[in-house]
This record gives sequence, C-alpha cells and structure tokens, in this order.
Amino acid sequence: MAGVLDLFSLRGKVAVVTGASSGLGVAFARALAEAGADVVLAARRVDRLKETALLVEQAGQRALPVRLDVANPAEAEAVVEAAVREFGRVDILVNNAGIGTAVPALRETPEQFTQVIDVNLNGCYWMAQACAAVMEPGSSIVNISSVLGITTAGLPQAAYAASKAGLIGLTRDLAQQWSGRRGIRVNAIAPGFFTSEMTDQYSDGYLESQIGRVLVNRLGDPAELAAAVVFLAGAAGGYVTGQTLAVDGGFTVT
Ligand SMILES: NC(=O)c1ccc[n+]([C@@H]2O[C@H](COP(=O)([O-])OP(=O)(O)OC[C@H]3O[C@@H](n4cnc5c(N)ncnc54)[C@H](OP(=O)(O)O)[C@@H]3O)[C@@H](O)[C@H]2O)c1
Repeated sequence: MAGVLDLFSLRGKVAVVTGASSGLGVAFARALAEAGADVVLAARRVDRLKETALLVEQAGQRALPVRLDVANPAEAEAVVEAAVREFGRVDILVNNAGIGTAVPALRETPEQFTQVIDVNLNGCYWMAQACAAVMEPGSSIVNISSVLGITTAGLPQAAYAASKAGLIGLTRDLAQQWSGRRGIRVNAIAPGFFTSEMTDQYSDGYLESQIGRVLVNRLGDPAELAAAVVFLAGAAGGYVTGQTLAVDGGFTVT
C-alpha cells in the first residue's frame, strides 16, 4: 500500500514552470525534478534556462528550456506544443513568471500598469488555457500570486497588487470550470518575502521594515515555497482546488 510520502511523488509527470530562469522558478523546477517530474523551463533568458536545466538533470530528470514571453498567447501555445512534442504530455503548470513594480498611482502610466497586468495576470491565463487544452484528468495548475494580492505592504504597488489579486480570482474561476469537468485542479500560492532578483530590487531597509509583520521573524527559504508547490502539484493535494495558500510566515494574519 502506498505510504504518505508516495503521495508527494511526481514520477512520470511532466511539469511546465514559467519564469524558470531566476529566483523562485529555479527552486520550483529543481524541487519538481527531485520529486520525479521532467520539467519544461520557460522564460525570455534562454541562457539562464540552460543553467536551470543542469539542476533538473542533476536531479535525474529531463529538462526542456523554451523561450517564452508569457504576455504573448501564441508563445504560450508554442511552449505547450514543444512540451508535448518532447515529452508527450503536460501534467503540471506552475505559473510563476512575474514582474514587480512600485510606482505612485498618480505617476503610473497606462503602459506601466498594462505591462504588469499583461505578464502577471494575462500571461497566467494564456498558459493555463494552452496547458488545460492538453492536460489529462489528475493534472494540476499552481498560480504564484503574492501576499500583495491579499494585503498591502507599504509600497505603491497598484499594478502588482491588482495583478496578483486578479490571479486569485482567476484561480477560483478556473477551478470551478475545470476541477470536475476536466479533472484539473487549480490553486494559487501567495508567497510572503523570499530572497530573489525581484526582492534584490527593494531599497535598503525595506525588507527589514516588513519583518515585524512576519510571525516567524525571518524571510522565507525558497525550498519552503517549493515544498508547497510539490504538495499542490501532485496527489498529496488531490482534494485541494480553488484555494490560495499563503506561504508567508504569518504575514497576512497580522
Ligand atoms: N520573491 C518573493 O518574495 C515573492 C513574493 C511574492 C510573490 N512572488 C512571485 O514569485 C514569482 C517569481 O518571482 P521571483 O521573486 O523569483 O522574481 P525573479 O527572480 O525576478 O523571477 C521572475 C521570473 O519571471 C520571468 N519573467 C518575467 N517577465 C516574463 C515574461 N514576459 N515572460 C516570461 N517570463 C518572464 C523572469 O524571466 P526572464 O526575465 O528570463 O523572462 C524570471 O525568471 C513572481 O510571480 C513574483 O511575483 C515573489
């Protein structure tokens, strides 16, 4: 009989991770491979994707780096076509590609606002549509939202917060459309503060100013977030859909 750890195995599965060229996406790709999945790595910087591919291969799995601008629906479809051509299937999508900006609302241009929505929200939808079209029952989509989709954190982030709150709504509705009819679970994760290229852009002292709201008194380790992705991606999360899981050290309850 299968034990509880077997529920976390992703052996034989194929995962697509967007934004796998840096930061959290690298940790997700590596963790999915360690759990047994082959991984399609998608982002704009292909040279960096090739570095992530080495990590997947070191974990004993196959990797396929594919160039993707997630804001372009045709490129989203092309990634899924490449995945099916190479590996024959797609079981898991981790919608992780994202950009973070902080611009005071009275100064933010339509182009600035639209770009964040195009990547962080619309891009997730294009990828979810392309993947769901080929996914078999038992598949799983994990959307990487943010605590900024739930609360504020002291910076002017209308575009980012709107995109991440929108992603929570998108998650809920796709779960409603696909969980029963297609057997595809759709969940979101709302990460708190994890070190990455995105958080490297914060001005000195910003992260420290927020730590007081983090109940566990520290930044998150990407491995702790990747563990949540693995949980939601496979059978361990088989009865979880439409949810947003905050992995934030308690930030959103303060
Ligand atoms: N770090 C945190 O504390 C934190 C907290 C909450 C939520 N998040 C979310 O976690 C996700 C990953 O962020 P991160 O912290 O790891 O930041 P990061 O290191 O800046 O990574 C962002 C990734 O998104 C990709 N990306 C950006 N624009 C893209 C586009 N148009 N098409 C395809 N890929 C694109 C980037 O790759 P290319 O530049 O190569 O395209 C990169 O791989 C984001 O959605 C972010 O909002 C992070």
